[in-house]
Amino acid sequence: MSFLDVLKPGLFTDRTLFVTGGGSGINLGIARVFAQLGANITICGRTEAKLSSAAAELSSLGAQVCTVVADVRDYAAVAEAFGASEQRFGPVDTVVCGAAGNFVARAEDLSANGFKTVVDIDLLGSFNASRAGFSQLRQSKGCLIFISAAQAYVPFAYQAHVGAAKAGVDALMRNLALEWGVYGIRCNSVAPGPIEGTEGMKRLGEVSGRDTWTSMIPLGRYGTTDEVGAIVAVLASRLGAYVTGAQVLVDGGQGLTGSSAFNQAVAAVLPPTTDGV
Ligand code: HXC
Repeated sequence: MSFLDVLKPGLFTDRTLFVTGGGSGINLGIARVFAQLGANITICGRTEAKLSSAAAELSSLGAQVCTVVADVRDYAAVAEAFGASEQRFGPVDTVVCGAAGNFVARAEDLSANGFKTVVDIDLLGSFNASRAGFSQLRQSKGCLIFISAAQAYVPFAYQAHVGAAKAGVDALMRNLALEWGVYGIRCNSVAPGPIEGTEGMKRLGEVSGRDTWTSMIPLGRYGTTDEVGAIVAVLASRLGAYVTGAQVLVDGGQGLTGSSAFNQAVAAVLPPTTDGV
């Protein structure tokens, strides 16, 4: 079944989606869903080649696309991207704060800069996009969607940086939902589980093994980017009009099973600690 059997193709005609990290993975998948539902799309990211290839794909789905090279850690660059989007399409309706970084590392091997890098991309980057998009969202009475992860509420070994960053993202989301409800701006986060074909699962799956992840999912399979994008679309549509401050799990139940299968599988393949523990 396609999401197009349920959601109307013209659902987002004349509406604009802005996605950070939109050149690949789940973020591009969300843009793909919105493109098929008629939205104009702005994507920003660090790598021009990824943005160009994503733009070609989104255009082929019928969307008008604006691409801007911007690192979410750089507020001025993000603000410029929102400016370019507004010039092209008018005020944005939905902002997806999706840019993220991840790698597997023991906390004692993680440098201060390694920790900071992930927190800066995920958390500071989400604040930068929210803050830079605020005036447009205020005009459109639009919504923010933050991309979270199970690491935000279950500790995963060797993911201290990711857990801290994503828990911060969820806390930021709730704070902004509280403060910006008065402007009609809704804020929610979506926490995808393991999703096929994404950079995140390439990085985590190649260390722990794919079967480890599958064993952690009650529904017994990885999800698809369409399945994440469809839920983001529902939250962004009028169907989501009374939903704000929510963390929505799109994870096949993975968050219910804890992290021990992952922790054990990764411990077995990481180089031994210096004192052999
Ligand atoms: C230990 C590492 C490391 C590793 C980088 N670092 N990789 N430390 N183990 N494997 C350290 C570096 O040594 C350096 O610290 C610091 O991190 C910054 O590294 P840079 O390479 O200079 O940073 P940068 O080029 O900005 O790259 C950011 C990145 C990279 C996060 C490190 O991996 C990246 O660009 N990732 C983007 C794509 C991505 O990760 N997508 C997946 C997101 S999925 P020092 O001290 O040496 O200077 C996700 C959720 C998954 O987030 C949840 C699934 C369920």
